[in-house]
Amino acid sequence: MKRFFLLLSAALLLLPAIGYSAPKNKKKDTHTVVAIPTVEAQVIAVETEGVQWLFHVDKAGVLRCYHFGKRIADPGQFLEFSGTRTRHGAEKYGDAAMAWPTVGGRYNNEPALHVKYADGSHNTELYYTGHEVSVADDVTTTTIFLKDYVTALEVALVYQAWQKENVIVSHSEIKNGGKKSVELLEYASSFMPVKADKYLLTHFWGHWGSEMSVDHELLGHDKKVIETRIGVSATKLNNPSFLLSLDTEAYNERYGEVIAGALAWSGNFKLCFDRTISQLNICAGINPYASAYKLAAGETFTTPDMIWTWSGNGAGQASRNLHAWARVNGVYGGEKINPTLLNSWEGAYFNFNAATLISMIDDAAAMGLEMFVLDDGWFGNGEYARNNDRAGLGDWELNTQKLPEGIDYIASHAHEKGLKFGIWIEPEMVNPKSNLANAHPDWVVRSPGREIYTGRNQWLLDLSNPAVQDFVFGVFDRTMQLSDKIDYIKWDCNRVVNSFGSDWQKDQDRFFVEYVQGYYKVLRRVREKYPEVIIQCCSSGGSRVDYGQLAYHNEVWTSDNTDAICRSRIQYGTSLIYPASIMGCHVSAVPNHQSGAITPLKFRFDMACAGRLGMELQPKDLSDSERDLADRCIKSYKQYRDLVFNGDLYRLVAPEEGRYALMYVSQDKRRAVVYGFNLSYESREIFRTLHLDGLNPDLRYKVNELNVDKSCWWGNGKTFTGDFLMNGGFNPYLYKTYSSAIFYLEAE
Ligand code: DGJ
Repeated sequence: MKRFFLLLSAALLLLPAIGYSAPKNKKKDTHTVVAIPTVEAQVIAVETEGVQWLFHVDKAGVLRCYHFGKRIADPGQFLEFSGTRTRHGAEKYGDAAMAWPTVGGRYNNEPALHVKYADGSHNTELYYTGHEVSVADDVTTTTIFLKDYVTALEVALVYQAWQKENVIVSHSEIKNGGKKSVELLEYASSFMPVKADKYLLTHFWGHWGSEMSVDHELLGHDKKVIETRIGVSATKLNNPSFLLSLDTEAYNERYGEVIAGALAWSGNFKLCFDRTISQLNICAGINPYASAYKLAAGETFTTPDMIWTWSGNGAGQASRNLHAWARVNGVYGGEKINPTLLNSWEGAYFNFNAATLISMIDDAAAMGLEMFVLDDGWFGNGEYARNNDRAGLGDWELNTQKLPEGIDYIASHAHEKGLKFGIWIEPEMVNPKSNLANAHPDWVVRSPGREIYTGRNQWLLDLSNPAVQDFVFGVFDRTMQLSDKIDYIKWDCNRVVNSFGSDWQKDQDRFFVEYVQGYYKVLRRVREKYPEVIIQCCSSGGSRVDYGQLAYHNEVWTSDNTDAICRSRIQYGTSLIYPASIMGCHVSAVPNHQSGAITPLKFRFDMACAGRLGMELQPKDLSDSERDLADRCIKSYKQYRDLVFNGDLYRLVAPEEGRYALMYVSQDKRRAVVYGFNLSYESREIFRTLHLDGLNPDLRYKVNELNVDKSCWWGNGKTFTGDFLMNGGFNPYLYKTYSSAIFYLEAE
C-alpha cells in the first residue's frame, strides 16, 4: 500500500511535465440536461382495407413501429407487446424499432433524418407531441407530430391510407422552428423497419435501351443502397422502386409476403436497405448527395411521397395494388384510354417535309390508328435548323424551310382524317449551336471555369432558375399556339447532369433539389392551362419513369429499344411497379434499328398490344399482307384495350424463362386477354401449359385467338371453366422462336 501511494505521488508530480495542470478555479459545468418528456403510451394504426402500418408511442414519447403488413384486428393489443430483450439493468432499450430514427441519442444506424445545428451539434431526438386523422372519400390521412426535446426542430410524418387500393403514401415535413438556420444532411421521405428471416430484394437497373431490367438479390447483413446521382433522366440506370419478398429466397408471383415501394421523385434518389441484427430498415428519399439543405429559421422542407403496399399473395398482388392506386391517383388521367398512334421518328427521323407527313397521316388513318405524332426536327432555322441532333435545340420556332405550310396545316390534315395530332419538344435542353445558347449562356448548367460537357451534342438548362422555368413553360405554351389542333405533346429529355452548377443559385447545394422542384412547378403551370392535352414523358426512352412526373403525364415512352424481344424484358420489368396504361409500345421496322433483330410482324404487334399500342415506322415500307395484318391487329386491340388500361394484370411467365406470358382481367372477371410469346426455341416437343390467373373458376369463358386464321390452340373457339383454364388445360402450341398469340376470353 505504501508503495502504491509513493507511485501515485510521483505520477502527480510528473503531470505538469506531460501537459496536464489541474485547473486553478474549476470551471462551472453549465451543461443542463433537458428533461425527456413522458406521455401516455398508445398505438396509432394507419390502415387500409387489407394493410396496416402500426405505430407505438412509448411512455418516453418515442415513436416506434410494430408492424407493416396484413391488417390485424384489435391492434390495441400491441400495447402489451414486449420485445425479447428490452432492458439492461435500469436502461430501457425499447421494445420495437424506431419509426423515424434520427442521428443522435442511442441511434447509430441509417437515419431518416440528420440535422446539423448552427452550433455545430448533430443530435436530434424526436418525441411524439400529437397526431391527427382526417378522412376524405377513399383516403384516411394520419399526421404524426414529433419534436426534438432540446432544439426547436419539428417533424410531421404524413401517411395517406388508400382504402380500396391497399396503398399507403407517406412523406415527412421538416420544420426549423428555431431562430438560426440548420442544415439537413439526410432527409428521408419515409422509413420502415421490417422483421423477417430472409429478405429478397427485387430492384431495377439498366441503361438506354435496357430500362427496368430486373435484379433479384438476397440481402446479407450489410447495407444495400440503390441510388442515382445523375440528377436528370434519373431512372436511366436505376429506378426509385423495389419489391421485397419476405422469408423466402425465391421471387414468386402468387405466394408469400411482399412489400413494394416507389418514390415519387424525378431526381437523385436513395433507397437504403440497412440490415441490422434483428431487422431490415428501409429508408427512402431524395439523395442528399451534394445537397445538404440549409433550412432557414421558420422554414419547412416537404419531402416527396413514398408509395408503399403489402401483399400476402406474392409480387403479382403487390403490383396490382400499385397499378390500382396509380390509375386513381398516381398517373395523370390514369383511367383514360390513350389513343393508338403513328410516331414519325423511326419512319422519317429528321428527313421529312409536309408531303412525307401527310402521307404518313393518310396511312395511319387507313390502318385505323388514332393519332399522328410529329417527332424531332420541325424547328430551328438557318444555320441552326434542326436537320440533325447537332443544332437547333432551344430555338423553338417552326422550321420554315422544311415546313413552310406550318404546323396547323399538318394538324388540320390529321384532324380531317379523324386523327388526333401530337408534337415533340425537348424544352429543358439547348444545343451549343443555337440562338438560345448565344443569348443565355447563364441559363446553362455549368460550373465556373469548367468545360460544359455535351451529351448528344446538347447542354442542360438550369431549371432551378425561375427565368428558365418561365422559358420552359413558354416553350410548351407557344408550341400549343402553333395550332388549336394539338392534342398530345411528347416531352423529351436526353441529358444527365455533369459538372453541376447554377449561375442563378446562391447556394449550390440546392441545385439538384430545386431543379426537380422547378420541373414540377412548370408541369403544374402546364396542367393548369392545359388539363386535357395528353402528355408523354420521354427521356431517351424510359430514363424518367417515376411516380413524381407521372402525376402530370399520361404515359411514358417506355424505351427507345423497340425490338420486341428486348421489349418483353423492359415491359415486364416496368409492369412490376407501373401500370400498362403508361407504357408507350410501338411496332417498328425490321431489322430493328437498335438491335438489328428480325422478328415477325405478328410478334411485334402482339408485344406492343400489351401496352398502349403505337407504330414507329414508314407505313409505305409495309407490304400489302403486312398492312392487312396491321389493320387486323389494330382493330382487335381496340376491342380489348380497356382491359390493358383498366384491367388487373397477372404475369404468368417471366421472360427470363425464354417465354413470356401475361394477361389482363376485367374488374368483374368476365373478360380477359391473354398473351403468350416464345422468346427462344427449346424443342418442338415442349409447349408448356399456361396456368391462367385471376379468372372466376366457376364461370365458363369462350376462348378466341385473335388475328390468325388458324389457331395455335386445340380449344380455340370453345368454352371452358375458369377452373380448367387456371389449373392445367391451357396449352397453346407456341414452340417456334418468336411465335406469339393473343387470346380473348369472354364469360358466357
Ligand atoms: C429520344 C427519344 O427517346 C426518341 O423517341 C426520339 O424522340 C428522339 N429523342 C428524338 O430526338
